[in-house]
Amino acid sequence: MIDLTEVQPRRGERLGVRQPTPPARLDALSRDILALKREMKAVILAHNYQVPEIQDIADYVGDSLGLSQQAAKTDAEVIVFCGVHFMAETAKILNPGKVVLLPDRDAGCSLEESCPAPKLKALQETRPDLWTIAYINCSAEVKALSDVICTSGNAERIVNAAPKDRELLFVPDENLGAWVIEKTGRPMTLWKGNCYVHVEWTHAAITRIRTEFPDAPLIAHPECIKAVRMLADEVCSTEKMISYCRQNPACAFIVATEAGMLHRLRKECPGKEFIPAPTENCMCNECRFMKMNTLEKLYDCMANRAPAVELAEDVIQRARIPIERMLEISARP
Ligand code: 13P
Ligand code: SF4
Repeated sequence: MIDLTEVQPRRGERLGVRQPTPPARLDALSRDILALKREMKAVILAHNYQVPEIQDIADYVGDSLGLSQQAAKTDAEVIVFCGVHFMAETAKILNPGKVVLLPDRDAGCSLEESCPAPKLKALQETRPDLWTIAYINCSAEVKALSDVICTSGNAERIVNAAPKDRELLFVPDENLGAWVIEKTGRPMTLWKGNCYVHVEWTHAAITRIRTEFPDAPLIAHPECIKAVRMLADEVCSTEKMISYCRQNPACAFIVATEAGMLHRLRKECPGKEFIPAPTENCMCNECRFMKMNTLEKLYDCMANRAPAVELAEDVIQRARIPIERMLEISARP
């Protein structure tokens, strides 16, 4: 197992200032998108980190697990996926015969980038004893090399279901992996990748905000570093944050995850206050990849039926096995 004290978080980048689209234009675009959706017999799936105007017109908004479950059961002819590239790829792997559109092909993920398939393959060749669990934030090629996929919403369950007689390799998020080790007690070799957004929260910045709002529980995503997870009242996936805040009697919560989540929380838990956890050096709580998607680009991708996810047939076939294994384990009572 990798010594976590060696792990140095990568610093995030400052975000450029986006020009806001006027409300009348947003309304017109939303109407056009919904009309196009009916015409195309499409479904719009959106991740919790999408901008509010996309969340507000989506058929389903949720975390990576919920989105892959929706993709697995949809009977729509076209899937329009508002999230990042690996999420749209997952929908395509589950629906090879359908058109899967995404507003911006360049909406990547720092975790996906940290784990190139040839590097993983080289490690697996030198260590054939390893059983590979891949966090869904990875490329289709990495999924094709993996034994099972997990999300932040089911990682504990997936690791508990892994064969007891095998050594486990967890890719690509060292922070999520370390959290699952703590939860399950199961040792794993961790790939050294991280989310450039979630490593921006520090122990010092969180301690300061907790002092300011002593009655507000802190909810944190497991992609945060251990020093932050230790301070949290709840560490969970974005979707579980909603049920936690609904059930908890507190009136205010400090939220250590991407800023898009605040819109979803405010909608689902009216009357409660959600305070974005401050990062140390900059307002780095927006994922630049998630924020590449706009209503304009969503309309264009539907009107042009492009960009669409394209994957090699053999990658689809191999990547589908560990994704279906994940869905099957998640559906167990
Ligand atoms: P969730 O599956 O918890 O929504 O997380 C996805 C993600 O990319 C977190 O950064
Ligand atoms: Fe990837 Fe982090 Fe963005 Fe999630 S928030 S999509 S893990 S870069």
